[in-house]
Amino acid sequence: MAAMVVGALLLGGLALQTFSPEQFEDENAQGARSAQRVAEALNAALAAADNPQQTLNAFATSLRAPAAIAFVPSGADWQGAASDTYRGSVPAWFTALLQIPELGSSHPVAIRTAHVGDIVFRPDLSAEILEKWVGFLAIAGSSAALMLLAGLSAYFTTGSALRPLEQLGAGLTRMRNGVYDAAIPLAGPPEIRKSCAEANELAATLKRLSRDNRDLLRKLVAVQDDERRELARELHDELGPLLFAIRANATALSDPEAEGPPEPGSPAHGILAATEALQQANRRVLEGLSPVYIAELGLAASVQALLRNAQSQAPNLQVESRIDHRLNDLDGLLAQTTYRVIQEGVTNVLRHANATEMDVTATVNEDQIEIEISDDGIGLPQDLTFGRGLTGMHERARALDGDLQLCREQGKTIVRCGLPLDHHDAQ
Ligand SMILES: Nc1ncnc2c1ncn2[C@@H]1O[C@H](COP(=O)(O)OP(=O)(O)O)[C@@H](O)[C@H]1O
Ligand SMILES: [Mg+2]
Repeated sequence: MAAMVVGALLLGGLALQTFSPEQFEDENAQGARSAQRVAEALNAALAAADNPQQTLNAFATSLRAPAAIAFVPSGADWQGAASDTYRGSVPAWFTALLQIPELGSSHPVAIRTAHVGDIVFRPDLSAEILEKWVGFLAIAGSSAALMLLAGLSAYFTTGSALRPLEQLGAGLTRMRNGVYDAAIPLAGPPEIRKSCAEANELAATLKRLSRDNRDLLRKLVAVQDDERRELARELHDELGPLLFAIRANATALSDPEAEGPPEPGSPAHGILAATEALQQANRRVLEGLSPVYIAELGLAASVQALLRNAQSQAPNLQVESRIDHRLNDLDGLLAQTTYRVIQEGVTNVLRHANATEMDVTATVNEDQIEIEISDDGIGLPQDLTFGRGLTGMHERARALDGDLQLCREQGKTIVRCGLPLDHHDAQ
């Protein structure tokens, strides 16, 4: 727009430069002719006069007032004085731009062939230059104002036409980020209104699908937990008594005379040792399958027990923990999920991290539970693929509208999980 204004001004300047010299000449041609006639008349009057010097003096006195036509006695310079008359308040560059032609003229006056002076014509152009200057300013000002107005109206018109498109774009971005509730306002031309309405429909469908998906995940998690509980019950009720029976019978098989445990190396001792190992493995599997303590001990104590167990499995690992006692107020799926996430995170550190330190925190905030398991081990592999553990953690977190992040910060591998407290319970 600025370029257009400058262009218009340059064009105006060029037109002034081209046409104004001719215009000046036309406007002053009459004056120049009058000067010539005055000179002719004066010469004729002087030739006819008895006392020409007196006639000339009377004539010069009558023309004394500043005027375009004057009598200049011979020897006086009039050109320089005249050239300054049309400067006034107009800038010099503008006067130069006008290329004012030489308009003055002089006509000799003689008394009996003796040259006594000249009738000179020196037009005062200041009024005409000022008029052109004012015209130029008016055109420049109004064209600049017009362009500004045109620019402003284009800006506002385009802005209001683009706003619905911007809102549509923002709505689609929200949808990509999983926010489906804020509807896109229906505005703008019919095609855009239609697109906005369809995008809103799409958001409603995505919201429904996402809810279905979450419900399915919840059911999946619940089914998994039920199965694990069932399996744990079977292992506990069926395998437990049988192992106990084997143990008792192995003891009875050994020399009935001998007091105390069977002798090392004897078959009975072998059976007893194997049975004990089986019982221990059974207890470990049972613990993994079903966190039976949550209901009895509360979540915080169950997590502490889990950590103690981890410590006993890895005596060289330094385990730090901050477990919020308010976890005990939780129950149901939320408590189960919190326990499982910590359990899987800790198991992964023991299995994969090769760490010297492990830090476990679980805090209950205003609106969510924050879980963090960090270790100073080797870090997640470059080509990490989720196994059953991380997949299960992820599914459990999503089932409760929570989120799970795995990252490496300041030499630590961190598993972070946020579980909202106000999740909607599965129907
Ligand atoms: N704390 C950790 N440090 C290093 N690697 C880890 C850690 N946690 C998980 N991983 C990597 O992530 C992979 C997937 O873990 P997961 O899904 O629990 O399956 P699994 O433990 O059965 O291998 C692991 O095989 C391991 O390579
Ligand atoms: Mg694992």
